[in-house]
Amino acid sequence: GGHQPLKGKRLLLTAGPTREALDPVRYLSNHSSGKMGFALADQAQRMGAEVTLISGPVSLPTPQGVNRIDVESAEQMLAAVMDNLAGQDVFVGCAAVADYRPVAVAEGKIKKSEAAMTVELVRNPDILATVAQQAKRPFTVGFAAETHNVEQYARDKLARKGLDLIAANDVSQPGQGFNANANALTLYWNEGAKDLGHSDKADQARQLLETIAQRLPADENA
Ligand code: PMT
Repeated sequence: GGHQPLKGKRLLLTAGPTREALDPVRYLSNHSSGKMGFALADQAQRMGAEVTLISGPVSLPTPQGVNRIDVESAEQMLAAVMDNLAGQDVFVGCAAVADYRPVAVAEGKIKKSEAAMTVELVRNPDILATVAQQAKRPFTVGFAAETHNVEQYARDKLARKGLDLIAANDVSQPGQGFNANANALTLYWNEGAKDLGHSDKADQARQLLETIAQRLPADENA
């Protein structure tokens, strides 16, 4: 019921952190809780969208009516995104994807010694840029988590990754960003910007999705 500006639209989302294994018991990761991405999935579903949520390891319940696929690593997240991309109208990359992974995963638990230890890392694939590069792509939305020069770095990501829109958050401020219940997003697209103020993640999600709905191309078959 209610206001359904995404009715009939299919929306694919990533949320949460990724885990990059070092050995069978250890991994590299980050502080993403999944709250922002799960709020987006929940609100998009309420606004009428058919939602597929690809999530890294988080401890959150699946929003009602949302199709959820769980993954661990960036490579698994990329594979799940590509498997589910056909027919999507919107892609939102809200996951905090690890930029690097250990070059090799040790088969057994790594043993300690007195010597210092070095872990060699290699770049992970960029899921968002990969989606944006597809010939037939959905309306593609990224996030930018920055600690300084927020607008400059966000606009640089918008252009470099070829996105339709980017949602930037200053993750250096308390009470917003990673693991907080609230956020303060600023949206950027080529011809404009919109400051969403500071509010809980459900409200931030609703405002972001309203802006996406307004900016979606008109239905070709309508
Ligand atoms: O999960 P919460 O605790 O609620 O916190 C929310 C959040 C802070 C994680 C979220 O609001 C957010 O900012 N998500 C993006 C975090 C991030 O990794 O930002 P980035 O600036 O490093 O990456 C830019 C964009 O590229 C993001 O859309 C990211 O999903 C994407 N990316 C990055 C690297 C990579 N290898 N693949 C990607 O797709």
